[in-house]
Amino acid sequence: MPRSDDHDTIPDPQTLPLHRLGFEPSCPPRPVELPDGSRAWRVSRYADVRKVLSDPRFGRARLQDPGATPLAGQAGLVASSDLMFNQDGEDHLRLRRTLSRAFTPRAVARWRPWIASIVEQRLDALADTGSPADLVAGFTLPLPVEVISRLMGLDDTARERLAHWSQYAFSDGSHTEEEMEPVLEEFAAFGAELLDERRRAPGDDLTSMVVREADDEGGIPEQQLIDLVCGLVVGGHDSTMTMLNNVLLYLLGERQECWARLGSDEQAAEAAAERLLHAIPLGDDWGTARHAATDTEVGGVVIPAGSVVMADCGAANRDPDVFPPGPLDDLFAPLESPTLSFGAGPHYCLGAWLARLELQLSLHRLAARFPGLRLECPADPVVWRQGTTFRSARHIAVVW
Ligand code: HEM
Repeated sequence: MPRSDDHDTIPDPQTLPLHRLGFEPSCPPRPVELPDGSRAWRVSRYADVRKVLSDPRFGRARLQDPGATPLAGQAGLVASSDLMFNQDGEDHLRLRRTLSRAFTPRAVARWRPWIASIVEQRLDALADTGSPADLVAGFTLPLPVEVISRLMGLDDTARERLAHWSQYAFSDGSHTEEEMEPVLEEFAAFGAELLDERRRAPGDDLTSMVVREADDEGGIPEQQLIDLVCGLVVGGHDSTMTMLNNVLLYLLGERQECWARLGSDEQAAEAAAERLLHAIPLGDDWGTARHAATDTEVGGVVIPAGSVVMADCGAANRDPDVFPPGPLDDLFAPLESPTLSFGAGPHYCLGAWLARLELQLSLHRLAARFPGLRLECPADPVVWRQGTTFRSARHIAVVW
């Protein structure tokens, strides 16, 4: 992890809350050494990151070629060459078309009422549990699990398995291959069965939409559809839970003075959600990787063909040519330019508008319902769950 920190002593970054991570300053593209000793190019200025993520000469598929890059050896669903995220060009678009209509800002806005009612149900359950409570078990995990389950049409058994599958799909490398294999097989079998069920009896859920659109499109390998569905169910809840956890640790730990306004002013909560998403990363990774197909100029520097390129969205979100310093100083000020937290270009996060909506509603309604919410033991160290691209608190003990 190449990040510097602006504190006097540099604590182990793996335990530092995500809002305290420092970022290397944005600079022209430059060669760096990855933790395993292999070479890559780091790209960190706003315009350069946008270029790398949008230019088709920088692809994902070649990263998975056996032996081609150090990233090819990664385990879990994230490294599957059948995953939409690891496809380029027409193969990628063909898969993305099966779902893209469902996730437009307008389509997602229509989900607001039922997502808001799930938020309220979770808050009722939290109130029934009583203070003290674990915010992760009581709110930040069940909320996105229920939302993605309803969207994808999952039954109760699948819901209960989601967190378990996620741990292996996004393994941090601590699981052996023997441990991973049976779980990932079980997960893929679940995906295959879900697709079969919806082929036989379509409903109004997104899995049925994938099946319908894929059949119309024709020629999409079944394994790619399985990985698409599995990727959505785990990616769709784990990332949102991580974001909620990281944001709530920050707000409850360091920004109590903003809590009342988040609860009383829905528009202010929306502005704050965007700023928090922008400034607090999901994890401590080096950025999102691409593979350069040809020699390509980025920001005045030629990146040679065959290079692995790490696009550091976190650093680019702090590029002083685009954003003033202190991104969280005024939590309610509109963002100066579009955030890169959801990436850019053809792989721009499919769930960005859903994640935004879940964060906005959660902040506003949680603060309105629990005006006195605070961390039970603010000085206690956080116990982290480490994934491939994220780091998330296992528990957040709160009182009110
Ligand atoms: C705060 C929450 C989230 C963050 C910060 C986030 C971030 C990202 C980023 C940065 C990318 C692009 C990576 C790249 O280009 O290399 C991405 C892609 C993706 N995200 Fe998210 N995401 C979030 C939530 C979600 C949710 C809720 C879903 C699903 C409902 C989702 C589904 C996807 C998918 C399917 C892709 C791959 C798109 C493609 O390859 O075309 N994400 N996400």
